[in-house]
Amino acid sequence: MFSLARKVALVTGAGSGIGAAIAQTFGRAGAFVLVTDREERTGRETLARIQTEGGQGEFVLLDVTRLEDCERAVQRVLAGGRPLDVLVNNAGVGHVGTILQTAGQDLDRLYAVNVRGVFNVTKAFLPSMLQRKSGVILNLASIGGVVGIRDRLAYCASKFAVVGLTKAMALDHAADGIRVNCICPGRVETPFVAARLKEYPDPQRAYQEMAATQAVGRMGKPEEIAAAALYLASDEAAFITGTAFLIDGGWSAGK
Ligand SMILES: NC(=O)c1ccc[n+]([C@@H]2O[C@H](COP(=O)([O-])OP(=O)(O)OC[C@H]3O[C@@H](n4cnc5c(N)ncnc54)[C@H](O)[C@@H]3O)[C@@H](O)[C@H]2O)c1
Repeated sequence: MFSLARKVALVTGAGSGIGAAIAQTFGRAGAFVLVTDREERTGRETLARIQTEGGQGEFVLLDVTRLEDCERAVQRVLAGGRPLDVLVNNAGVGHVGTILQTAGQDLDRLYAVNVRGVFNVTKAFLPSMLQRKSGVILNLASIGGVVGIRDRLAYCASKFAVVGLTKAMALDHAADGIRVNCICPGRVETPFVAARLKEYPDPQRAYQEMAATQAVGRMGKPEEIAAAALYLASDEAAFITGTAFLIDGGWSAGK
């Protein structure tokens, strides 16, 4: 297993799904994990699971859309005397709809969390990484950031932006010793997908169709995404920056 021993990692949206799995996997790999979410209860539950397994960390309330939360998280990390090695921008939200079924507010809401949220948190933590000339930033984009998905206008727009942001930052800061990558999962069974299913008239049928989009005929598991996150965060991935790493059960390979 790849090691994050003596590393400090912060995961946004770590109270649920992929973020929770990444936080737990990082805890098992030896990292001190700053478990953050806008929901205190679920974030603390993730932290408790890490601690039960013998891992270390703490919970920090962080809504990625709130600049004051980002600043407070930075201060907290600095005060703890443990500089951040790995930042995982995982928090994200979705919306089902074509352009005609998407209100301007829906687009703004997805941009506020999925794009501006990544921007806010990264901008807050990057200066301390630059000072140490070391750091790893990992953004959760999506297959919807690489190819179009029907009925996901706002989501695709926001996730293509995350891929662009990742690649531009990777170039800007490669010489500073900072690696920036994103992961692009296909559909992964989490509360996020459950919420989207509720937006369809026949959720059962929608589930089967969503599973069938992957060539392997099933959705992914959060742990399967977390395993890739661990590799990309580890020193073994020192030569990887600016990549959009597809973990999509063959979705993007073709029809
Ligand atoms: N599940 C999938 O099929 C899938 C596929 C591709 C990409 N993704 C991406 O992976 C990431 C995680 O998805 P998931 O399926 O685990 O979602 P999820 O809904 O299970 O969990 C998302 C977490 O983010 C938190 N969150 C939401 N808005 C926040 C905010 N403003 N500030 C801080 N925390 C906030 C929620 O409280 C929740 O704990 C998202 O960026 C999502 O777009 C998911």
